[in-house]
Amino acid sequence: MIGGGELLPATVVLGASRGIGRSIAKIAAREDTTVVLVARSESNLEAVEAELRAAGGRAVVFPIDLSSSDASKQLESFLARHGLFCDVLVNNAGYGLRGAATLLPIADQLGIVDLNIRTLADFTLRFSPGMARRRRGGIINLGSVASFLAGPNMAVYYASKSFVRSFSTALSQELRGTGVTVTCVAPGPVATDFLDSSGAGRATLFKVLPKLSADYVAEQAWRGFRSGRRLVIPGISAKVLIAIATVLPTSLLLPVVYRLQRRKSDPCPCGSGETFAKCKCSSMRN
Ligand SMILES: NC(=O)c1ccc[n+]([C@@H]2O[C@H](COP(=O)([O-])OP(=O)(O)OC[C@H]3O[C@@H](n4cnc5c(N)ncnc54)[C@H](OP(=O)(O)O)[C@@H]3O)[C@@H](O)[C@H]2O)c1
Repeated sequence: MIGGGELLPATVVLGASRGIGRSIAKIAAREDTTVVLVARSESNLEAVEAELRAAGGRAVVFPIDLSSSDASKQLESFLARHGLFCDVLVNNAGYGLRGAATLLPIADQLGIVDLNIRTLADFTLRFSPGMARRRRGGIINLGSVASFLAGPNMAVYYASKSFVRSFSTALSQELRGTGVTVTCVAPGPVATDFLDSSGAGRATLFKVLPKLSADYVAEQAWRGFRSGRRLVIPGISAKVLIAIATVLPTSLLLPVVYRLQRRKSDPCPCGSGETFAKCKCSSMRN
């Protein structure tokens, strides 16, 4: 037990083994808190832990698959065993998949709902009541520019991020005046493994847009959170994209986003097995 009696504050970072989560963990470790590093890959978490400790921070690792239904309960017990309480929660773990909703495996798409929505809601609902009682702390939720529009060819991912933004915004209002703040971060493309693992990096949209560094996004997120901001949009291009998405009618926006997120060599959503370019369906679309 780290605290030896009185519970000590911890910053819990979900998805801390790499990418934006790792960068946020490094920043959090500069403050007087223990950073709890959570993700599946134990060896990567240990590498981040060593990095944080070398810089003078305090960190512990908690390897777990956050898709498991009792993950938040397990973390709660882990914190109690270590004499810690969740002061700041960073809901950063998430993934996406590029492809037609009719063709991508159902289990993989439901996995996005599970991690990006259910897990985020579960951790938030489990730890926010304690924050409100203590009248301190807060939550950073990783949304995306994707939360401002529908995303054909990444339909479930975009929809999951809309949930994140809506939920965060409502909660920030409910907790106003309690001393607890909720910040939703909405970046555009960030140079992390996500772009490859989701397949998004192969789409024109993500090729043409400038990519921010994970460190920059993390700095903006933390600064916005510490200033009590409800929404943080890192970088100019994300702000411009959101402005366009907010102003343009959906009927104009949808075909453009679809074009930019699919490739001619992608299979047609009709399931014919033809590529998008060759299938007879494509002549009927924009
Ligand atoms: N990169 C972008 O362009 C971009 C843009 C906007 C928003 N975002 C959002 O930012 C967040 C972080 O993305 P990133 O770019 O840093 O992605 P990333 O580099 O792929 O990192 C994802 C993190 O989540 C963890 N994770 C994934 N599935 C998990 C599971 N089932 N259980 C536990 N941990 C899990 C991963 O660790 P393990 O694999 O070790 O479990 C990793 O630490 C996501 O919510 C993403 O949607 C990213």
